[in-house]
Amino acid sequence: MTFPPQFLDEVRARVPLEGVIGKRVRVVRRGREFIGLCPFHKEKTPSFTVNEEKGFFHCFGCGAHGDVIGFLMRDEGLPFPEAVERLAADAGLALPARDPQAAVREKERHSLFGVMEAAAAWFESELKGTRGAAARRYLDARAVDEATRAHFRLGFAPDSRNALRTALEKDGITEAMLLEAGLIVTPDDDRSPYDRFRGRVIFPICDRRGRVVAFGGRTLGERQPKYLNSPETPLFAKGSLLYGYHLAAGPARKANRVIAVEGYMDVIALHQAGIARAVAPLGTALTEQQLESMWRLAEEPVLCFDGDEAGARAAARAVERALSKLSAKRSLRFATLPAGQDPDTMVRDRGRQAMAEIVGAAIPFSDQLWKMASGGRSLDTPEARARAHKQLQDQVARIPDSDLGFRYMEEFRHRLRLPWQGRRQGGAPSPAMPESPVRRGEALGPGGQGTTQPRERALLQILLNFPALAMEQHEALAGLHLETPRFAAVVAALIDWAESGPEPESADLRAALAGKGLDGVVEELVGQSAHVLDRPASIDHARELFADALNRQHQRLEEQAARAEAEGAYIDEETWQQTRERILRLQETAKAETDLPDLGVAPRASGA
Ligand code: UTP
Ligand code: MN
Repeated sequence: MTFPPQFLDEVRARVPLEGVIGKRVRVVRRGREFIGLCPFHKEKTPSFTVNEEKGFFHCFGCGAHGDVIGFLMRDEGLPFPEAVERLAADAGLALPARDPQAAVREKERHSLFGVMEAAAAWFESELKGTRGAAARRYLDARAVDEATRAHFRLGFAPDSRNALRTALEKDGITEAMLLEAGLIVTPDDDRSPYDRFRGRVIFPICDRRGRVVAFGGRTLGERQPKYLNSPETPLFAKGSLLYGYHLAAGPARKANRVIAVEGYMDVIALHQAGIARAVAPLGTALTEQQLESMWRLAEEPVLCFDGDEAGARAAARAVERALSKLSAKRSLRFATLPAGQDPDTMVRDRGRQAMAEIVGAAIPFSDQLWKMASGGRSLDTPEARARAHKQLQDQVARIPDSDLGFRYMEEFRHRLRLPWQGRRQGGAPSPAMPESPVRRGEALGPGGQGTTQPRERALLQILLNFPALAMEQHEALAGLHLETPRFAAVVAALIDWAESGPEPESADLRAALAGKGLDGVVEELVGQSAHVLDRPASIDHARELFADALNRQHQRLEEQAARAEAEGAYIDEETWQQTRERILRLQETAKAETDLPDLGVAPRASGA
């Protein structure tokens, strides 16, 4: 029976240690402790001490040590539950009511482990027996040697409807248990359940302590599915285990290195080649739990991916999973295999050394982020750098360790500048680095809210369509920053016009703008015909649209200021932290934003 920990604490608190021990051993007080002759070994000078305060006894002679429950167990040879029950009775404590369900669950779990172990042993013996000949040939062909087969407890499920079931039922394992263990399957019709694994090489899947909790079974030929796994059972959750973990854990921890590969055979081939630090997920992308497991073994697990498109996608998924858990002591590295190879074929075709070199050449997490953001191209235009910067900044913002995030951005800012500096040193004309925060913001990219121009265009279109609104809002206009210089000039002209006490008519406005040489921009915005500027529509609606567009523009400027700040070379950590929070907030609001309506009525009559 298991006791709740609170109950055990209660027992220890209620029963005076010295009282229980004092009945057996003569002890005398010496300072804070009691001291006497040890009841557990023969001695002439007392080395047995009892510390009531701390609740334990300790013998300096023989090393015996424990609390009151331990004393009784040792002294009277009682099993733990009986020692507890005795003490509880002495103290007048009622035993906690048994949780019958918990007890049943516990027993069931234990017996399920037993069922899995029995099945594993049977599969192993089948691989060695007469029915296992073809499977042995298959493993020979794949160069899995005897020692490795034993190490991974490989087995064979013969191609029979009931062989496993019959064998285990002889051991008293019931149909219900086999069903619960996922070893037999109930068919839809009312025939009896049949063995799940038939005609397959068996790969036992173990939990972290090395207990068999599931099986993977591989066909010997081309039958589909190639691998069949146990279903989820009370013992087995596939997202939380790694294949080979219990064998890799020791070597991995010792070397502070662990390698994740894709398949069972990859793990086996690496172990056989002497690279015993390899594990694999169980046929799915790496889960957060699996990453956590690997981080228990090493600070920077190496993830191996194929050199193809699918490998790149898998690496990107792993990056997504890991970002929000990254710290200076928990990171990842990425190794890329030559196209068409997996670790199993690598070690077989090119040897252990070739594989070790690939793992050794794994790139750090930051390089992987950079690789994904740059797409492997050189970032030789401002646009390319802006896009890369935005992607990097959005990803880095998700790293919870703000110092690490700061270092990442420091690194990326440095790299983003390199191509530009390189060109200048090469003597080619260098693009001027943007100066003002807003201009710098522009260099940082469009931000999370679409490109600059459509937003600014919409703002001006509303104003040009409703001269009365432009007059009414001229003070708001004074605070409006547009990033596109020709549009900013229109705003300035609109303010001048509104403050000159004009007629709220489009002809008047148009003439004023033309007077400043802005007729080209006006045409770009709303077309040529004057009547477009008088478009009859409710000014109230226009006012709402304007307020909304203005709001978004301000939000965008704030985001850009934040980005510009983050780009500053000597940004301090506190500022980065604030910036990061702002970017995260703005990303949230940007998500909720829909696109502006297009008010560019401008039906550019051809030739007109
Ligand atoms: P792969 O198809 O890469 O297989 O699947 P592999 O490990 O290289 O196997 P061999 O070399 O052909 O024997 C990688 C992993 O995906 C899971 C298994 O865990 C496998 O090890 N998988 C694959 C399945 O669960 N079911 C399948 O049908 C295929
Ligand atoms: Mn393979």
